[in-house]
Amino acid sequence: MNTIIKTLNSENPDEWIIKEAAQIIQSGGLVAFPTETVYGLGANALDETSVKKIFEAKGRPSDNPLIVHIASKEELPKLVEYIPKKAQILMDAFWPGPLTLIFPKSNIIPYSITAGLSTVAIRLPQNKIARALIETAGVPIAAPSANTSGKPSPTKASHVIEDLNGKIEMILDGGPVLVGLESTVVDVTGDIPVILRPGGITKEMLEEAVGEVLVDPAILSQKALTSTPKAPGMKYKHYAPKAKVTIVEGELSKVITVINKLTKEKQAQHLKVGIMATEQTKDSYAGDCIIVVGDRSNPETIAANLFDTLRAFDEAGMDVVLAEAFSYEEIGFAIMNRLQKAAGYDIIEV
Ligand code: TXA
Ligand code: MG
Repeated sequence: MNTIIKTLNSENPDEWIIKEAAQIIQSGGLVAFPTETVYGLGANALDETSVKKIFEAKGRPSDNPLIVHIASKEELPKLVEYIPKKAQILMDAFWPGPLTLIFPKSNIIPYSITAGLSTVAIRLPQNKIARALIETAGVPIAAPSANTSGKPSPTKASHVIEDLNGKIEMILDGGPVLVGLESTVVDVTGDIPVILRPGGITKEMLEEAVGEVLVDPAILSQKALTSTPKAPGMKYKHYAPKAKVTIVEGELSKVITVINKLTKEKQAQHLKVGIMATEQTKDSYAGDCIIVVGDRSNPETIAANLFDTLRAFDEAGMDVVLAEAFSYEEIGFAIMNRLQKAAGYDIIEV
């Protein structure tokens, strides 16, 4: 398949390009598009055949449900059985934005989207290209992250091209995304909202809006690989580059010492060593490829660059990657969740 690639202005998306993309969605094809979190791979959410193509293009296990994207709150009632009170509060506080809510599904949502579950994940994104596309297509758009299953999620169009060129009808290039980590997924079907996947909307932010919020215990633990997390996607090894990633956690000065010691050991075994460093530590290392993922005093920069950095180590041909750990506070919780998964939970505490 010849994939059409179009670059467009993310603040003022070119109407004719959006129309062409919307027509592809309407006629059952796949379009990758930017959202504020990561790039998504979109199809008509109300059409089984289109939805199945998403799973094929990504090589995604069919037991992992998809998020349905809408362009306005008015589209929600027909997709869900009812809107719980706390869901309404969270929608009012964070939509449009990087928050996905789990509702009891209505009959028009095909089971291929929900992987057989009676609930459905819904998100109203902020990104203008995403919203123009959904609005113009006139249907809700099912969209997982637009990467090959298991690889780091795409935060730039070039990542999508790398994974999906030739497998989908169109890629909309709206430049690098804002947040860089996938949306926070919150189950609002019970009395107390439960975070199933941490993201840009933090636990602290959710609690300020709605009171007590729980975290699915399968997050941030080895258990995620064995027990059954409530977001099926969280059980897969994920975000992984080809290089073997190890996280070093503890007081920063000790972390640097240990990373330098490990670097020498690995290099002595003729392995190419990548080091995921920060603005604060970049001059402390002597690896084969040192990449600054961000600034410790501005963790949003780390979130924004994390997936691109993981992909960059592969491009640089590294065999192993040694990564500094980060604080688990606020956005750090989501960063460490993704980093731990990329590392297959290989963490050295110092
Ligand atoms: O930021 C995002 O959410 C991006 C952009 C494109 O919107 N999308 C995204 O989709 O990350 P995906 O498919 O890569 O991740 C969806 C997550 C998975 O962990 C999946 O298991 C969970 O949401 N999920 C979907 N439907 C669910 C449901 N009914 N119950 C529990 N978890 C669900
Ligand atoms: Mg994904």
